Amino acid sequence: MAARAQSTTPVRKVPIHLQSAQNRLLIKNGKVVNGDGIQDADVYIEEGIIKQVGNNLIVPGGSRVIDARGKYVIPGGIDTHTHLQLPFMGTTTADDFYTGTRAALAGGTTTIIDFAIPSKGQSLVEAYKQWRERADDKVACDYALHVAVTWWSPEVQAEMEELCRDHGVNSFKMFMAYKDLWQLSDTELFEAFEKCKELGAVAQVHAENGDIIKENCKKLLAAGVTGPEGHEMSRPEEVEAEAVNRACVLANQVNCPLYVVHVMSKSAGEVVAEKRRQGIVVYGEPIAASLATDGKHYWNSCWRHAAAHVMGPPLRPDSTTPDYLMDLLANDDLQLTGTDHCTFSSAQKEIGKGDFTKIPNGVNGVEERMSLIWEKGVVSGKMDPARFVAVTSMNAAKIFNMYPKKGCIAVGSDADIVIWDPKLEHTISAATHHSAVDFNIFEGITCRGGPEYVIANGRVTVDEGQVKAVQGYGSFIPTAPFAPFVYDAVTEREKVHQLIKVEREGRIVAVRNAVVPVVPPATSNGEALELNLSSVNGVEEVVAAADHHFAAHQHFTRPPTSSGGRNMQDTTFSLSAEYPNPADESDNKRSTIRVKAPPGGHSTGLW
Ligand code: URP
Ligand code: ZN
Ligand code: ZN
Repeated sequence: MAARAQSTTPVRKVPIHLQSAQNRLLIKNGKVVNGDGIQDADVYIEEGIIKQVGNNLIVPGGSRVIDARGKYVIPGGIDTHTHLQLPFMGTTTADDFYTGTRAALAGGTTTIIDFAIPSKGQSLVEAYKQWRERADDKVACDYALHVAVTWWSPEVQAEMEELCRDHGVNSFKMFMAYKDLWQLSDTELFEAFEKCKELGAVAQVHAENGDIIKENCKKLLAAGVTGPEGHEMSRPEEVEAEAVNRACVLANQVNCPLYVVHVMSKSAGEVVAEKRRQGIVVYGEPIAASLATDGKHYWNSCWRHAAAHVMGPPLRPDSTTPDYLMDLLANDDLQLTGTDHCTFSSAQKEIGKGDFTKIPNGVNGVEERMSLIWEKGVVSGKMDPARFVAVTSMNAAKIFNMYPKKGCIAVGSDADIVIWDPKLEHTISAATHHSAVDFNIFEGITCRGGPEYVIANGRVTVDEGQVKAVQGYGSFIPTAPFAPFVYDAVTEREKVHQLIKVEREGRIVAVRNAVVPVVPPATSNGEALELNLSSVNGVEEVVAAADHHFAAHQHFTRPPTSSGGRNMQDTTFSLSAEYPNPADESDNKRSTIRVKAPPGGHSTGLW
């Protein structure tokens, strides 16, 4: 990590005569790492853009040359989750857009994505503009914005449209927690997902069951548990995992891509992994805190220490959690990393001295994320440098549609580059970090590997370890909807999920699920399938639980053969011929054929 800046006074825009010397840069002899591979190559930068990548480059005289022998040349980090200058829980975060982005640069992150969070009833566009005003003149590195949907109405829907169309926003965060403040109901979530899908946006969720948390908090306080440990006890792991599962189900019903922010527990990570295996388009974002420390700190006898770790969802007391999440990250069960950098000083945390529910939620990480993931992911042998790049920048750039401008080292990309020294060793401490906060939850962790140079838009902002951040140097990066990385998958799923109505002579059978009408009483592996029959407005309706893979791969709805005959691979089973009409049953009960486990599991969507 870069050495502490000499002064905390913001440096303003760089004078032009100093800028020009930095406009042409040649990085020689390094190993260029992208998310999909490593090559020995030189990189030439001009006017903030990568102009050449290769060997024996011919470059203009007078260019600054940086020797990167023995170092990795990697894309600048993208932190997908920060809260700078956020008014929250009766106070405002310690880091503003300058100190926060300076800390980001010091750690090798050159782009952050912050959250514009409207208060309940506030215009989303107005909140977006507020965040732009706070950030534009302060950011020392580039930034983009997610917008939170904290209430629901036709106006909110119209504003989501406007944000995507006119303001460069392609992601919306919905809260399943913070009841009475930001939490949406399940119906509202469902509709918000539907809207995101229509707009080509990514739906993000803070996944915790806010209703349960509220009840648990009451019980704990009544029992006299007022300290930070109550925070974790009020929202144990299953409260997070349940919400992740619920969000996946709701999003899948409308084929909306889902992004689970701050994955904090093993079971939440497992739900994401399992849903991905079922073919659902879902991404999981563990954060520096969940990958590198744990929730035992809530039981520390020092209140200040314990309170400093309070964030939601909480860190988990199970100390094997960080390693486990790192394994999921290494294997693409989880895809990318943020920090949820949301800092409050010890004095600010004291707002909740006698009541853990009032401790401002948030921890640091924007400066430490890259080094921690290198140490705990690469040095530990769980991932190679290419995967490191994928999870610290490339996947973020792809999901939020900034790729290949950001997240890769290629001709035409922004010159956001870190020269990463695998031999650099430093121990994290609040005494030397660049954040404005007075505590560091990673205090004492030694990281092997860190940024020697950080280049943001072609400018050397960390130079041989010295931070030279410039206030207002960064820009807002608009993000367009329908990111191909996300929506190509969504579109393909759409094709296999078409509702298919089967025309029949005689009795009419409406089909609510495409797999049903020609489903045999037993599947090829001998399991039975559950069918429910009912009569709706005189038309029989067939309902079944099944998976789209099941429909697509089993071909139960094969069309007729070319000669017009019945496809002989289809079942001979006929619903209308062999099943009693439930309407005929005197008690009008549903007929069922039981099937335990349809191949592919259950992930039925109807859209
Ligand atoms: O504790 C947290 N995470 N604070 C920031 C707000 C949020 O939920 O992301
Ligand atoms: Zn959150
Ligand atoms: Zn957050």
